[in-house]
Amino acid sequence: MPVEKGVAFRLWRAFYNPKAEVARGLGVLAARVLGVRSIFETFAGGGIRTLLYARYVGPELHHANEGHRGFLCELLHNYLENGLPADRLRLSVSDFLTDGQRFVCEGLRYDWVDLDPFGTPSPFLVWSLSLVRPGGYLYITSTDTATLSGKRRGEDVRLYGVALRPWETYAEVGARALLYSVWSAANSLNLHVRPLFLYYEGYAHRLLVRVEERRRAEGIGFLHRCKVCGTYTASPRARGTCGVCGGEVEVVGPVWIGPLYDRDLLREMEEEAGRMGWEKERRAIRRMRGEVDVPMYYVLANLRLPQTPSVRWVVRRLREAGFRASRTQFHPGAVKTDAPRPDVIVELGGISRN
Ligand SMILES: C[S@@+](CC[C@H](N)C(=O)[O-])C[C@H]1O[C@@H](n2cnc3c(N)ncnc32)[C@H](O)[C@@H]1O
Ligand SMILES: [Zn+2]
Repeated sequence: MPVEKGVAFRLWRAFYNPKAEVARGLGVLAARVLGVRSIFETFAGGGIRTLLYARYVGPELHHANEGHRGFLCELLHNYLENGLPADRLRLSVSDFLTDGQRFVCEGLRYDWVDLDPFGTPSPFLVWSLSLVRPGGYLYITSTDTATLSGKRRGEDVRLYGVALRPWETYAEVGARALLYSVWSAANSLNLHVRPLFLYYEGYAHRLLVRVEERRRAEGIGFLHRCKVCGTYTASPRARGTCGVCGGEVEVVGPVWIGPLYDRDLLREMEEEAGRMGWEKERRAIRRMRGEVDVPMYYVLANLRLPQTPSVRWVVRRLREAGFRASRTQFHPGAVKTDAPRPDVIVELGGISRN
């Protein structure tokens, strides 16, 4: 019988992905810290999230929706076996794509909505956002890394509204394109979204946003990569040339170019993870907290240096030189920095620019 964070459950046919444990844990920690009182779960599957939210967040109102009746029976079985409060739980079996609208029309609104589909979350964003009370939170999973990494031309525009490019920074560009699509759906509802964290796991992006009233363009812009010197830049308007060397640039956008992390929330989540003894989540939060808020990064192995230096050494050298620099969760061999790329190379001990 699988056990996650002290919660035992039994599954017959329902979906359960043990790899998503940290993502579930991050959601629970954030919901605890934010004082969430009502939760709506789309795509509840076998209900491991339902059990964790019920046990560690304890919402007064908890609504779990799942398209497969049998899976929901397994969820209920596990919920009752764990002695969780059945009077707070509402279950519904329906296709969220069509019935999401019905929930919205019923006037249902929640502090926290968890959107955990297979693949892309795009078709479900409008209903999910509509179910969040203003000032509440939407926790989104996307396992559509094939499209978000720029490998499925056409699908990127159709699902996220952005034509992507196969840059070395595809993991972060994908995260920012996903955020743009969430912002765009919110915009159509006269809402705004602000990211609280973005957790990247290679096969999935996990994104927590706060849903705010009144649309605005804040945070939206374009990414540029210089074809000559390789410097990445971001700005609210698309540019044609590189601000460092004047060379021609490639442009991706519109995407989210604002900060990815709410530092105060991450600090509180890390403290909470420490109190709970949730070490894997604590490490994940530390990685996010350690990142400087600079769009894009440079993969050291791609800089064609005679010998690839360690990330730690480059970060230290850049900081000594007065730049902002850090590791990044998006690539283990890369450095995030506000130093332009030619400067990065020069800082590495006068090595030639080529
Ligand atoms: C990724 S799994 C959910 C996993 C679960 N939240 C967890 O953390 O273990 C996706 C679930 O969505 C359900 N599903 C797929 N399409 C659906 C739809 N249109 N409406 C409602 N549920 C759907 C599937 O039956 C499956 O259980
Ligand atoms: Zn340049």
